[in-house]
Amino acid sequence: MTATKRQAAEVVLKGVAKRYGPVTAVKPLDLIIPAGALVTLLGPSGCGKTTLLRMIAGLERVSEGRLTIGGKDVTDLSAGERNVSMVFQSYALFPHMNVRDNVAYGLISGGAGKAVANEKAEATLAIVGLGGFGDRLPSELSGGQQQRVAVARALVLEPDVLLFDEPLSNLDARLRRSMREEIRMLQQRLGVTVVYVTHDQSEALAVSDLIVVMRNAAIAQAGTPRELYEAPDNVFVATFMGEANHVKGRLQTTSAETGTVHLGGLSVPLSHRGLADGEVDVVIRPEAIRLVAAAETGTLAATVATANYMGAHAEYNLDTPVGRLFAIAPEADSLRGIGETVGVRLADRGVFAVKAL
Ligand SMILES: Nc1ncnc2c1ncn2[C@@H]1O[C@H](COP(=O)(O)OP(=O)(O)OP(=O)(O)O)[C@@H](O)[C@H]1O
Ligand SMILES: [Mg+2]
Repeated sequence: MTATKRQAAEVVLKGVAKRYGPVTAVKPLDLIIPAGALVTLLGPSGCGKTTLLRMIAGLERVSEGRLTIGGKDVTDLSAGERNVSMVFQSYALFPHMNVRDNVAYGLISGGAGKAVANEKAEATLAIVGLGGFGDRLPSELSGGQQQRVAVARALVLEPDVLLFDEPLSNLDARLRRSMREEIRMLQQRLGVTVVYVTHDQSEALAVSDLIVVMRNAAIAQAGTPRELYEAPDNVFVATFMGEANHVKGRLQTTSAETGTVHLGGLSVPLSHRGLADGEVDVVIRPEAIRLVAAAETGTLAATVATANYMGAHAEYNLDTPVGRLFAIAPEADSLRGIGETVGVRLADRGVFAVKAL
């Protein structure tokens, strides 16, 4: 195995669903995972992420639908018959085997000779930065190093698709951050298709080409990190992808694409995205809120309920006619006082009219 790019495989799901008796773990869904992309499945506990991943791996049979990998229909193939490797949350290393044998195991059980398997294992350990660690036992490694062995063990099989199920959740915050960068760099260097499950939205934003947000066994929205953060379709996605205030406003369409939303005394131009005129759900990112003098016209009247100095910025809760708003202001030096009346303006970015879901 070499660290060069190879032909990557596209994964296509058509109407794929999973039921366990009366429980629907994944409702019928369509999804294209582009060749060579890193796609994350993101969503709260129980939304169906692991089930979807295990169906791609062939560890669960689909209840309905078809699944192709690299143009080949693999729906009826077992895990062993698909060229797919999975990295588990628990790493699942063999504790009594050294690192080299752990990595070589899959090759040997697939029929490779010991010498060839060991050579490939060493080469793959070098790719994940563990050259020279082959003789150690897993217990003689740090958590991050064990994680890399698990990645090497999956990579050595030269899979068309690499699947990760919450691979970093056993690591502390700092290590998580550096390991996610490593996985991303490795994926880009090798050009391998990766499906990556997480419930951490900042991890998903950091590493993904595409994020699939799941909710209640279905896809809530799929898109690039920027699309999901800056153009969420619905309240769930908006609030799941970072902090957001959710209020009601009145929409008035002004053109084929644009409209004005009225929030208290404030008029905000935005994309109406096909929503009907009248009351709509509006999502406001905390950093889109600007505090100005109460006397300024065309602002939303607000009273400062809480004000916190956070070092690099200030955080406020503001009571307004449309409800309480959480705001982040970049200038921490001129902190407003509790009870002070101020005016609120909104930036062009970070304010969306969305579906209620
Ligand atoms: N073998 C099973 N039998 C019955 N129900 C199951 C089985 N496996 C999963 N489920 C159910 O299917 C749903 C989706 O489970 P899944 O493990 O895919 O969720 P998840 O998104 O990975 O959650 P988490 O973030 O907690 O890992 C859950 O309601 C779960 O209880
Ligand atoms: Mg899971």
